[in-house]
Amino acid sequence: MKMEERLAKLEKIREKITQGGGPKRIAKQHDSGKMTARERIEALLDPGSFVELSFFAGEDNFEKLANPGEGVVVGYGTIDGRTVHIFAQDFTVSGGSLSKAHADKICKAMDQALKLGTPMIGLNDSGGARIQEGVDSLDGYGNIFLRNTISSGVIPQLSAILGPCAGGAVYSPALTDFIFMVDGISRMFITGPQVIKAVTGEDVTAEQLGGALTHNQVSGVAQFIAYSEQECLDQIKTVLSYLPSNNMEDPPESDPVAPELDPDELLDIIPENPNQGYDVRDVIRRIVDGGSFFEVQPLWAQNGVTAFARMNGKPVGILANQPRVLAGCLDIDVSDKLARFVRFCNAFNLPMLTFEDVPGFLPGTNQEYGGIIRHGAKMLFAYSEATVPKITIILRKAYGGAYLAMCGKPLGCDVAVAWPSAEIAVMGPDGAANIIYRKEIESAEDPVAKRKEKVEQYRQEVSNPFIACARGYVEDIIDPRQTRSSLIAYLEALTTKRESRPRKRNGNIPV
Ligand code: HXC
Repeated sequence: MKMEERLAKLEKIREKITQGGGPKRIAKQHDSGKMTARERIEALLDPGSFVELSFFAGEDNFEKLANPGEGVVVGYGTIDGRTVHIFAQDFTVSGGSLSKAHADKICKAMDQALKLGTPMIGLNDSGGARIQEGVDSLDGYGNIFLRNTISSGVIPQLSAILGPCAGGAVYSPALTDFIFMVDGISRMFITGPQVIKAVTGEDVTAEQLGGALTHNQVSGVAQFIAYSEQECLDQIKTVLSYLPSNNMEDPPESDPVAPELDPDELLDIIPENPNQGYDVRDVIRRIVDGGSFFEVQPLWAQNGVTAFARMNGKPVGILANQPRVLAGCLDIDVSDKLARFVRFCNAFNLPMLTFEDVPGFLPGTNQEYGGIIRHGAKMLFAYSEATVPKITIILRKAYGGAYLAMCGKPLGCDVAVAWPSAEIAVMGPDGAANIIYRKEIESAEDPVAKRKEKVEQYRQEVSNPFIACARGYVEDIIDPRQTRSSLIAYLEALTTKRESRPRKRNGNIPV
């Protein structure tokens, strides 16, 4: 065969593989509001940067390819000039279902990402295990899960759900750092509505069961929700802009930007009435670099805030109580949310700023039966384990165990500062006065007035920030308007922080 003929044949095969499931199925994909796998890669990576891997992998009879490309496109390219590895499942080929060859392609990209220290991005759109393949397909999933786990904490792993994600297919995303979903397009569940109906008799739509809102608001499985595929891909780029490519690098720096909102207004945000709520994000936005505050999991466990931000151009992780919701109490869900983010920041060298205004752990049988002890312990564990710079800013309440759980000084917090409004004590003044001044209150002529007086006395004499400062638990009491400059100076001084711990196989975080 002449070279021209060989080249023509090669071109034909290349075209067939590139076309995936063919024009009809591509049109169906577009009609359902979705991009194809290749279009998604184009939209995410820097133009022209994509290099495909394992293009010909799969069936060896190239004349009759039943599953061109095996239902997945894998390779590497750049985002903002930095290399990432990527796979995008191709729903037009057997519904993006996972065959052994499909899994092998993904594993090749994952192995390279780990070896080269680059982030791994998965664009999921798949009907799950390739039903015709049986155990080979299960083996493929297992190989991916193992790599997800080995890569965890070494390279960032980001998963977008851009279609169905059913059965075992949900577990690779669940093992990665962040899950991004698109409203109306993404669906994640272990068993679908028909199986649920058959087993439990329950009626539920696929959207209610595993849609983007469900997993961002109810289950906490996903961290980000977008309203179009393009917005979802942009969110991935934004998250990467705060992250190093791997755990051996520092996060990328940008130019410093002044806060978007006036720091002078920090004097008026915390209400005079200690039982009144406020939005802690109004505080944070007046301290961090303008436009850099990017919330993680904004819709779930809203009594806590987790976010990426920059201070003087350098990325940091933000953790905060949200007094506007449940008075900022720590409950089961928020403990999970905060502890997981602490571990992510620590893994990828992001210094942590913890903004504290917490009246305690949420009381009740619901919380105790649900294991608040086990879940709350995750925060103590995660903060104690973390060795990146840790700074705590006590805005108002810092009571009891929750004072410690929000990166209290003994958990290895490098610097704790307080605002003059801080109240640091074993418990809130109301509860404390009821116990320690009970007799005085009961025997008073006007018990209500006496109680009020004693609550105020406790607040002034016991829970003020000066005592904690005198004992060295709090480094300084600062003017709220100076918070940004103080934090930048402390962060700068902590840049060279090194702290080593005993070697072990793994710690045993309560799960
Ligand atoms: C092989 C599959 C497939 C699968 C879909 N297809 N899922 N082929 N294995 N798992 C094929 C369809 O036959 C169809 O082929 C094409 O993909 C598109 O599927 P449709 O059903 O036409 O699309 P749609 O109506 O959009 O529905 C999508 C869907 C549905 C919701 C994903 O296909 C579905 O329910 N699939 C099965 C989901 C599932 O139960 N998977 C196994 C989970 S068990 P044609 O040729 O007609 O275009 C599992 C265990 C792993 O994953 C455990 C690991 C630990």
